[in-house]
Amino acid sequence: MKNIAVIYHSGHGNTEHFARLVVAGAQGVADTEVTLLAAETMTTNPSALIDYDGYVLGSPTYLGGVSGPFKSFMDSTGGLWRRQQLKGKLAAGFTVSALPSGDKQSTLISMFTFAMQHGMIWVGNPFLPEQGSGVTYEHAINRLGSWTGMMAQAGHSAPGQSYAPGDLRTAECFGRNFAQVLARMTAQVEEVA
Ligand SMILES: Cc1cc2nc3c(=O)[nH]c(=O)nc-3n(C[C@H](O)[C@H](O)[C@H](O)COP(=O)(O)O)c2cc1C
Repeated sequence: MKNIAVIYHSGHGNTEHFARLVVAGAQGVADTEVTLLAAETMTTNPSALIDYDGYVLGSPTYLGGVSGPFKSFMDSTGGLWRRQQLKGKLAAGFTVSALPSGDKQSTLISMFTFAMQHGMIWVGNPFLPEQGSGVTYEHAINRLGSWTGMMAQAGHSAPGQSYAPGDLRTAECFGRNFAQVLARMTAQVEEVA
C-alpha cells in the first residue's frame, strides 16, 4: 500500500474543491491510500510527513506566489530539510487562481524549488491540451497548458461557482497520474532490490 498526502491551503474554498478531485483521482489507483491534509494543521508536526511516500502540494496563487499559510507550512519543514528526511519522495503541485495566467507559474516554481531542496522527485502534469484535438476549450483537459504542475481557474467567490469542466477533469487526471507514477516507481525499485 502506498500513501499519498494531498496538502493544501484554501482561503475561500476553491483550492480545496480541486484538492478533493486530486484525491479522488489518486484513490482510483489500486493499493493507494490518499489523505487530504490542510497545510495549517501540518506546521506543528511536520515530522508526520515522513510517513508518506508522496505529496501533492496545492495552494491558491495569491499575489503571484503561494499563500501565506502554505508558505508557513513549507517553512515548518526546515528541520526535515536539514536531515534530508524527505529525500527520494515523490512530489507534485497544483494551483488555483482567478486569471488565466495570473502568475500561477510562479507558485508552481516555488513548490518545485521546495521539493528540489528536499531532494524529492517531481512529477508534472503530462497531458496534451485537448482543445488541440477538437474538444471545446472549456471542456479540454489541461486547457491552461501547464506541464510543470496542474493549474485551474476560479474567481473570488465561494466554492459552488461553476468551474470549467476541463479544469475539473484535469484535477482528477493529475491525481490519478501521480498515483500511477508512484506505483510504477515502487514496482521498479522492488524489482531491482
Ligand atoms: C490576497 C489575494 C491575492 C490574489 N492574487 C492573485 C493573483 O496573483 N493572480 C490571480 O490570478 N488571482 C489572484 N487572486 C485570486 C485567487 O487566486 C482566486 O480567487 C482563488 O480561487 C482563491 O483560491 P481559494 O478559494 O482556495 O483561496 C488573489 C486572491 C487573493 C485573496
